[in-house]
Amino acid sequence: MKALVHLVAALMMAVPVAAQRTTFTEHVAPILYTNCVPCHRHDGGAPFPLVTFKDAAKRAHMLKLVTEDRYMPPQRNDPAYRQFAHERRLTDAQIATIARWVADSMPEGPRHKAPRQPVFPTGTALPRTPDVVLRMRSDVPIPGTNTQHYICYAIPFEFDRERSINAIDYIPGNRLLSHHASYQVLEVAPDVQLDSMPEYFVYAKEQPIDDDHDYRFFGLISPVYGPPIETFHGGWLPGMSPLMFPKGSGFRLPRRGVLLIRNLHYAPTTRDTTDRASIAMLESRTPATRPITFAAFKPIITQDQTVIPADSIVEHRIHVRIRDSISVLTINPHMHLLGASFTVWANTPSGDSIPMVHIPHWDFDWQEFYRYPKPVVLPAGTILNARATFNNTNSNPRNPNVPPKDVAFEVGMDDSNEMMRLVLLVLAYQKGDEHLDLVRLGR
Ligand code: HEC
Repeated sequence: MKALVHLVAALMMAVPVAAQRTTFTEHVAPILYTNCVPCHRHDGGAPFPLVTFKDAAKRAHMLKLVTEDRYMPPQRNDPAYRQFAHERRLTDAQIATIARWVADSMPEGPRHKAPRQPVFPTGTALPRTPDVVLRMRSDVPIPGTNTQHYICYAIPFEFDRERSINAIDYIPGNRLLSHHASYQVLEVAPDVQLDSMPEYFVYAKEQPIDDDHDYRFFGLISPVYGPPIETFHGGWLPGMSPLMFPKGSGFRLPRRGVLLIRNLHYAPTTRDTTDRASIAMLESRTPATRPITFAAFKPIITQDQTVIPADSIVEHRIHVRIRDSISVLTINPHMHLLGASFTVWANTPSGDSIPMVHIPHWDFDWQEFYRYPKPVVLPAGTILNARATFNNTNSNPRNPNVPPKDVAFEVGMDDSNEMMRLVLLVLAYQKGDEHLDLVRLGR
């Protein structure tokens, strides 16, 4: 018996490796289904599907190029500096498999060996079917005037009960033109009218974001109880994944309130079109007793730094002192089109230096609320530092001005200006937070 086993083993080893052709169904499809199809499918946000053999064969050379360059799957942080939960990366072996398939002239392979096509809930990357979906009440017009367009939109809601939420996903209706949004979940007083609330208004040029103005416009301020109560503040940027929070944390979705999308920004277009966004949420099984705090920091600049001069590369910094100990769940560096690189680190009072995130080549299309595998605890007294570089020369392929022009810095939210923001989602520190698992969330 033993001899037979040896013989079989010898025979198996004798099969020449070269006879094994790299095929779509056996080797390439499993890679695409896990790493590409979450976006490259109908309604997944990418410009074309990569589901069938035909889809992939048609673009085979492109697939080889973008994977070898690590342009796709999109993941713009440097993993050697700091790694995050759910990084989208192919292994060297997977990249080589795609290249070999192209070198072998893209054979399809036996159809019965194809993996089952993956199924995703439509429109959202949440790990299960959402419990609550709030949708814009009608299609919002985006005029084809070739200018930046900003709106503030209100979605009133009234449910039978209050809920604890620990995952939320903003789903743009028009992915091509949606450039960013920040939103608030607001609880309104019983005397605030929900039925007659206007849908939205368009911001005038240079109009600041002003709580009082916006709340008044939608009639959210009660003469008796005062302004609404914010239970959550979130944001969305191109390429972003859903926000998901650990057990016991999250926010309260009141029984009656308004989801207010505060500065929804659309890029210029020359064709009249529309958007209809929605926000999907997962209800938490345990009450969210620990609220999530949205902390945004910007650089302090002097009068002569309000411009990034044409043909220059400049650096700006943020330094903040953390007053009370916090557990950082996600980190989001933000710049506009002149952004070149962004690095964040922290110095603790005991002398440790903690790398937080490094984006070596800034890409406006792929911004993220990067989620740590476990919370990063910053003890009271820690100094949080950020350094960003801005490239306003010809060598920046995204520079909107050819030749480069002076660009205003930190004077508004318009894309034609430049800005630097560091946004953290944090919890007030509790003992044991350093061991919380932030990888498997929302299930
Ligand atoms: C998170 C969503 C997402 C994932 C995952 C993803 N893509 Fe993409 N892909 C996009 C989007 C959106 C674009 C268009 C914008 C861009 O080029 O950045 C794109 C563009 C592309 C392009 C065109 C590039 C060009 O220069 O025109 C190719 C080819 C491509 N993806 C292949 C892949 C492959 C192969 C994978 C998996 C290994 C993958 N993508 C994973 C969203 C994704």
